[in-house]
Amino acid sequence: MLNSYSFSGLSIISQDGFIQNSSIKIRNNRIAGIGGQKADYNIDFNNRYYLYPGIINVHDHLRGNYLPKVGPKNGNFYLNWSVWDYDLQHSKVRDEREKNTVQDLYLLSAYKNLFSGAITVNDHFPHAENEKYISVLPIRIITNYTLEHSCASFSLKWGDGIETEHKRAVEKNFPFIIHCEEGFDRETQNSLVKLEKMGCLDDHNVLIHCIGFSNSDIRKVSRAGASIVWCPGSNMYMFNVTCKIREILKAGINVSIGTDATHSGSANIIDEMQFARKTYRKIYSEDLDAKTIFDMVTINPARAFRIQDDLGSIAPDKRADFLVLKPRRRDPYEAFVNMRMQDIELLVLDGKPIYGMSAYKDFFEKNGSGFTRTRANKKEIYVKGDPAGLMKRIWKATGKKKHLKFIPLDL
Ligand SMILES: [Fe+2]
Repeated sequence: MLNSYSFSGLSIISQDGFIQNSSIKIRNNRIAGIGGQKADYNIDFNNRYYLYPGIINVHDHLRGNYLPKVGPKNGNFYLNWSVWDYDLQHSKVRDEREKNTVQDLYLLSAYKNLFSGAITVNDHFPHAENEKYISVLPIRIITNYTLEHSCASFSLKWGDGIETEHKRAVEKNFPFIIHCEEGFDRETQNSLVKLEKMGCLDDHNVLIHCIGFSNSDIRKVSRAGASIVWCPGSNMYMFNVTCKIREILKAGINVSIGTDATHSGSANIIDEMQFARKTYRKIYSEDLDAKTIFDMVTINPARAFRIQDDLGSIAPDKRADFLVLKPRRRDPYEAFVNMRMQDIELLVLDGKPIYGMSAYKDFFEKNGSGFTRTRANKKEIYVKGDPAGLMKRIWKATGKKKHLKFIPLDL
């Protein structure tokens, strides 16, 4: 196993800017230095690639990534999430999805994220329901969190109650994650006020969707120092509206972009970033700059989850989580936001490669076993685990040769 190595001849991009023709040294899964001497084992990238922190997908449901989507019919939109949930529970696509094992659904979701560069993900689901499936996944799943589904009396029973879960988050320095105001009925619209009255609104809160927020709600969230998760793909599909994102950003709130599951959201985090920008332009007739979007999938989710000392940027002593990209644009943040799955050259998680082009064969082999060689986006790749074998199991279980947009394997 390689405990120490370096990459040279690449541009390094983080929140502080862009260092051209630089190098980075990794020791014991962490960044040992930037711009210094090369290690005995070095990969030279010949100044053709950009290196970014690995993407963090702040909001997903790893049991629910399957296609097609389930949505409102006949040009109507939903009143709240529960009507969508009813449609999902009574859909043919859910019946087909449930023919697979839960473990395979978790693997499918992990690869949805991996192939789009999202190598740290939160599965918004109870610990008791997901902990037995996450240890074998090829990406990092955040395990330090408390949660509830949402605030209304009809919310799904995911936690031990808002007050208990929030108190636990404060005691353990964890995030408290909850869907908030995903709809327009009276009770859902009152969610933030309810959290405030319970004494459960502070900087531990990670509030998902927030489409019903008034300007007064936004001021309260800003004062509390809570984080907001923006999922425009899911919001526009289900409700034809999203949160007041410009006002939320102007209030200085920590905002992250999340995909939600593909039954309502975008295919993956790349599509979601691009949809977020398009949606912002459509609503406000102005551009949301690429650096803001970059922050929303790197350092902002790290702050929301209280793991910014470890993840979310490229700096000495942080965990070695990297996305190496073949840039389509010169500007590093534009290159990032405009990437496609096939532009990802290499992904490194905790110092170990988990996905990359076949040119890095030796780097994979020096990092032990557990990889397969296959084809994706018409290229030979190495990947942790066996996504091709997974797809074949899915085909067998469902009796359908299913191709999912977020799995780019050439099968
Ligand atoms: Fe969700």
